[in-house]
Amino acid sequence: MTHISLEQASHLLKHGDVIGVPTETVYGLAASLYQEQAIDQIFSLKKRPLDNPLIIHLASYDELLSFKPEPIPFLETLAKNFWPGPLTLVLPIDPHLIPSKARAGLPTAAFRVPSHPLTLELLRKTGPLVMPSANLSGKPSSTQPSHLEHDFGDHFPILDGGLCVKGLESTILYYNQEQWEIIRQGALAKEQFAPYLNYVPVIKSKEHGKAPLCPGQMYRHYAPRAKLLLKKDFDPNYEGCVLGFSNRNYPKLSHLLVLGDLAEPETIAANLYTFLRHLDEKKISEALVDIDFPSDGLLSTIKERLIKAACKD
Ligand code: TXA
Ligand code: MG
Repeated sequence: MTHISLEQASHLLKHGDVIGVPTETVYGLAASLYQEQAIDQIFSLKKRPLDNPLIIHLASYDELLSFKPEPIPFLETLAKNFWPGPLTLVLPIDPHLIPSKARAGLPTAAFRVPSHPLTLELLRKTGPLVMPSANLSGKPSSTQPSHLEHDFGDHFPILDGGLCVKGLESTILYYNQEQWEIIRQGALAKEQFAPYLNYVPVIKSKEHGKAPLCPGQMYRHYAPRAKLLLKKDFDPNYEGCVLGFSNRNYPKLSHLLVLGDLAEPETIAANLYTFLRHLDEKKISEALVDIDFPSDGLLSTIKERLIKAACKD
């Protein structure tokens, strides 16, 4: 693996290269917002459809103001309370200020200020960076450098920031019909916004026959090669692999992978993609997934990721 220093990372980005960069959520594939051919390279490295836009990462809220976002209720409140952190805001923008490729031609753009100290320092040196999650399109995201090495090869340059503490992508909010809505669940649970918005934002999933608010929702996601079967009951004689939780009973002869304790969803979140990747590394072809758990708080995001990972279309 090619570990690079902060100085090298900044130099490579300014010269139009694509590198791996840590964030508190998941690792990103980073390019300068102003290096068009590097943005092209991100799409080809990830095999990402060109109509799926990228998130623009900034060093501060003040930097967002330079993009002249339209005034929206609670925009400043959200930014001031959740940035730096795992919140992405999709905002209407002046299209002249943001290269069309980054926003896939949409009249909006997605912004976030990540909280990983190394990434913030990098962003202060480089200016705005686009960063999709550092994984092949459709596959589980990367939460440690070895995951990038697996997806992009031994020589891919990576700024090593250790393990991602959150382990799930940022929550994406979009202001629609006078309310903020969640268009992608993430590391911030919907309940966490209520003290600031005075309501719990609704979670918008793709509506049949309509263009999705979040283009990423059109595509398969987070899925290992293994076939995942979501289960509430288990055949006691099952001898294959089970993805489950601590302090629960599973078939005695199964090969159990424990995601963590349901009372500590943060730990489950931090482990999730490593376990999904582990299935492929060990060439496990099928696993049963315990889906019998509540969907409050962060568990809602975890459940959504497991359901998507099990979806084969
Ligand atoms: O935590 C994260 O958000 C990570 C780290 C690296 O920051 N990044 C990330 O990027 O998850 P990506 O590209 O894997 O997911 C971005 C999602 C996609 O589903 C995309 O469709 C959506 O954000 N998105 C980006 N721009 C958008 C826009 N203008 N309108 C609606 N959705 C947008
Ligand atoms: Mg992604």
